[in-house]
Amino acid sequence: MATEFLNDIVAIRQRARRHMERGAVTPGYRGDLEVVLRILNEALATEIVCVLRYRRHYYMASGIHAQAVAAEFLEHANEEQGHADLIAARIVQLGGSPDLNPEGLVKRSHAEYVEGENLRSMVKEDLIAERIAIECYSEMIRYIGDTDPTTRRMLEEILANEEKHAEDLANLFANPRPAPDE
Ligand SMILES: [Fe+2]
Ligand SMILES: [Fe+2]
Repeated sequence: MATEFLNDIVAIRQRARRHMERGAVTPGYRGDLEVVLRILNEALATEIVCVLRYRRHYYMASGIHAQAVAAEFLEHANEEQGHADLIAARIVQLGGSPDLNPEGLVKRSHAEYVEGENLRSMVKEDLIAERIAIECYSEMIRYIGDTDPTTRRMLEEILANEEKHAEDLANLFANPRPAPDE
């Protein structure tokens, strides 16, 4: 068993020397790189759309004196930006390039950009977007399986955070204090 592993190590050392320009992507990478990069770019577009929607909601809610809800929107906006940064960095690490082109951003995104006319509809649209994100991240995690543990771990962390966002919004939606329909 030990000898077998040692033989593997020799092969691993040899493979590591080939295609060094690929950086973190070694011949042992088991994911379908093209598909992984595409779905990561879709997730990136989704996060950017979520940042924009939450920021819009933050400014609008600030204007209607709903400080607690506005603070929640801002916190989510900043966390979505954090997700976008993680995803973009992983795309680069995998040898891809993050697509931040504003053209077609909404088309590439899973979630929608809905402005909402009042506080209640903003909370509702954000909750729907979070639920879409939860479904999409779950699907991506299932697809990646054990082919790319680093990407999967990142997606799992983001998913946990989206579930927290959905919970926060569901609480705001169910609990009218501070009144989401002011
Ligand atoms: Fe996010
Ligand atoms: Fe979120």
